Amino acid sequence: MHSEPFYDPAKSYLDNFEHGPFGLFANTSASFPAKPTRHQFLGHPVDAPFGIPAGPLINGKFVKAALDMGFDIPVYKTVRTRRQACHPWPNVLAVRVAGDLKPDQTLVAGSEYSEPLSITNSFGVPSFDPDFWQPDMADAAAYARPGQVVVGSFQATLPENGSAAAYLQDFRLGARLVKETGVKVMEVNLSCPNEGTANLLCFDIARSRQVVEAIKEEIGSLPLVIKMAYYKDQDQLQAFVREVGGAVDAIASINTIAAEVRDVSGRQALPGEGRLRSGVCGSAVKWAGLEMASRLARLRAELGMKFAIIGVGGAGSAAAFDEYRRAGADVVMSATAAMWNPRLAQEIKGQAHEL
Ligand SMILES: Cc1cc2nc3c(=O)[nH]c(=O)nc-3n(C[C@H](O)[C@H](O)[C@H](O)COP(=O)(O)O)c2cc1C
Repeated sequence: MHSEPFYDPAKSYLDNFEHGPFGLFANTSASFPAKPTRHQFLGHPVDAPFGIPAGPLINGKFVKAALDMGFDIPVYKTVRTRRQACHPWPNVLAVRVAGDLKPDQTLVAGSEYSEPLSITNSFGVPSFDPDFWQPDMADAAAYARPGQVVVGSFQATLPENGSAAAYLQDFRLGARLVKETGVKVMEVNLSCPNEGTANLLCFDIARSRQVVEAIKEEIGSLPLVIKMAYYKDQDQLQAFVREVGGAVDAIASINTIAAEVRDVSGRQALPGEGRLRSGVCGSAVKWAGLEMASRLARLRAELGMKFAIIGVGGAGSAAAFDEYRRAGADVVMSATAAMWNPRLAQEIKGQAHEL
């Protein structure tokens, strides 16, 4: 049913980094013909409005393999302005969820990756220094063929001595460094920790707006995507979009949804402090991604805004791609399902009705 994943959870992050990608992503070549394109993504023609969101494409080799396999909008994993180590292995575990992930549900982890596929991932957004990732991202971005666009994702690092000004400065620096690579589209991860609070940055509307304005000052007309978490509260989402939606070119949503993950004996599944709760993605969060796509589409129309909507979360089939497009997503992306199904983009191009 599933292929060998291109990122192997049984191996360490560094092993994947050095020796991956695996399975069908291992020896790809740009063998499919360049196609006349019917779609646009933020001013760039794309063959299909489908891609892989920030995360599983951990370096340029992974991005190039994704391009070769027909994922026309691959996102180069979220980077930082300085090196950051990865959380201890394991970083990916299968989780058993019957149907949709529910609020405050405790999940049981395992190593059997079966349909309907849901996983938890916990990396801590590791990064190499810009000395490594800038030339690597530049090389991957330049590899895109006509009808393909590589997106560069980044986030800021919380300063050790806790200063909101330093945090904002780090967003500016990150934006400058990513721009220097020549990527045609930039994504900032706002579903990341917020300086001085225990909540995610995207739940702090004033700070999110400040961050977006600072980045825009740095990058000028380069299109900016923001990555947002699932919002429970409609008033809060509306306030966010009203404040920030006019300043960005696209909103990608959702990121993972946090849940408690234990092993079969009830012990914490991922080792180390702060890892009892970790991000869940895949099939169990599709409902939340679809819901956000349609809520964002409604708000965009109500507020007369223009941002593109990138639907993310459990989009693991041509039927799911269609559901996202009908819900209002302009572009659809899959992380978890694509990891285990390297042919997903080709399947969507062959089978989806909403192309
Ligand atoms: C292995 C892995 C690593 C991820 N790393 C990041 C990341 O660095 N930055 C980010 O914004 N999202 C990251 N994500 C979240 C995905 O971009 C996506 O929002 C989430 O997995 C939901 O999509 P899915 O159900 O298709 O997996 C990661 C997801 C996976 C599976």
